[in-house]
Amino acid sequence: MGYCARFMGMMLDKSAISMHNARMGHAQRVQTSGSVCFARAYAKINLTLDVLGRRADGYHALATVMQTVDLHDTLCLTATDDNRVQVVCTRPELSNEDNLAARAAQLLRERFALQQGILIELYKRIPIAAGLGGGSSDAAAVLLAMRQWWQLSLSPSELQEIAASLGSDVPFFLTGGLALCEGRGEQVTPLAASLTNCPSSMRWVLLLKPAIGIATASVFSGLPASDYTDGSYSRAVISALQAGSLPQPGDFHNSLERSVLERYPEVAQAKVDLLQAGSPIVGLSGSGPTLYALFSELSCASQAQERLQAQGYEMYLSHVIYPNQGDIRVL
Ligand code: C5P
Repeated sequence: MGYCARFMGMMLDKSAISMHNARMGHAQRVQTSGSVCFARAYAKINLTLDVLGRRADGYHALATVMQTVDLHDTLCLTATDDNRVQVVCTRPELSNEDNLAARAAQLLRERFALQQGILIELYKRIPIAAGLGGGSSDAAAVLLAMRQWWQLSLSPSELQEIAASLGSDVPFFLTGGLALCEGRGEQVTPLAASLTNCPSSMRWVLLLKPAIGIATASVFSGLPASDYTDGSYSRAVISALQAGSLPQPGDFHNSLERSVLERYPEVAQAKVDLLQAGSPIVGLSGSGPTLYALFSELSCASQAQERLQAQGYEMYLSHVIYPNQGDIRVL
């Protein structure tokens, strides 16, 4: 059976669900403002990642400047009457209840004692285990979509707390755009509003995804103290951006990069190839393996993409994005 046929076979019939819901008692049903809710979940890159040290709880203290890009997953939420959360994903290995998006939905169902179940259809475009925050972004999108669609009473700080309980990166995706993230990553200071505009040299973001997946925990656990930094790279990047100028290439620093390049020679080779393709700024996103390159001109980014694709690399051409209203659509 083809991939598409398998996926279609797993989808529930939405009209059957809504007919069934119509027969349920009104008191049992949450008040949705439409029959389905679509949401976009954007990927991120880390412009910097300063690891400041190891904390007593085993996490690492960070200062990281994160930026969302327009590469995104699409989620479709449907209320069901089977009292459970189900995920159907274009990547079958993610079609299960451990998916962070499912856990986000389950947390809100428990908190609000919601009797209705929820079906999450997840069209995955963001590569997984890639350092692009796809799973965290999907979870944040579910929280935002359910709050809006089911009109749940949740303050920004309550939402932030729930997001942080799901993962260190999840709170960032509640606001997205450009932000400084501190603590273990969950303390988010949005920066986009303080910028006059994004430096033109950072408009286009070319992503190179080496053909491996990396577990974040394994990179952090092997990190020597000699790779810790004092937060100065993040401060330098923020100052430059706030002054409307492009940060120095050396300030796009990631404390995890040295050990990732050492452990995974294919990522080190990919970095060499990406630099040769013409961008002055190349960085590792999160714990990798995805590398990003920043370009001012679409034509240069596109030429580099073609060249690297011809070398066999998985490439995505994207641009920075400052999400706001409109990423959630109730139909
Ligand atoms: O918070 P999250 O579950 O996404 O983190 C995954 C793993 O990455 C953690 O279990 C931890 O090993 C590591 N991590 C860390 N310090 C951070 C964030 C993550 O050591 N600030």
